[in-house]
Amino acid sequence: MIRICFVCLGNICRSPTAHGITLHHIKKRGLGNDVELDSAGTGAYHVGQRPDQRSILAARRRGIDLPGVARQFLASDFDNFDYVLAMDEENLENLKKLLGNRQHPGLRLFRTFDPSAPPNASVPDPYFGGEHGFEEVLDQCERAALGLLQEIEAELARRRR
Ligand code: 4NP
Repeated sequence: MIRICFVCLGNICRSPTAHGITLHHIKKRGLGNDVELDSAGTGAYHVGQRPDQRSILAARRRGIDLPGVARQFLASDFDNFDYVLAMDEENLENLKKLLGNRQHPGLRLFRTFDPSAPPNASVPDPYFGGEHGFEEVLDQCERAALGLLQEIEAELARRRR
């Protein structure tokens, strides 16, 4: 089993989108029994809430459901995930602080899995912007998800050997 947690600030826009779109492609590839997904926020502002309506509607237009209710990422979560994928540099810095002097080889920016993204690219926060931002989040998350799944499939093949 490979476990992945997507992390943004509020866990209501970007990380649920990354979670939903990656889950969609995992099911499409028949990897549902090999990969487990979750998402969380570095902040606690929206804990217990479903994803933002604007994210839900943008995803639904593409036939994708956004799962879960918001929760805050905990220091102990690092033990439970092979990959902890941050949406932007600020999320990544906050996660590194939480990690302290420990190491986690799977902690990185989500968009590093997208070969067409510039180095250190973020998924920008759409919360205070217009509808276009939510579409952009979906596009960026989908490209990164496809790159991520390529790596996951290679890792699963290695483990089976
Ligand atoms: P997210 O978006 O980190 O993609 O879930 C945000 C949601 C809420 C806030 C900021 C970003 N907020 O400031 O409340």
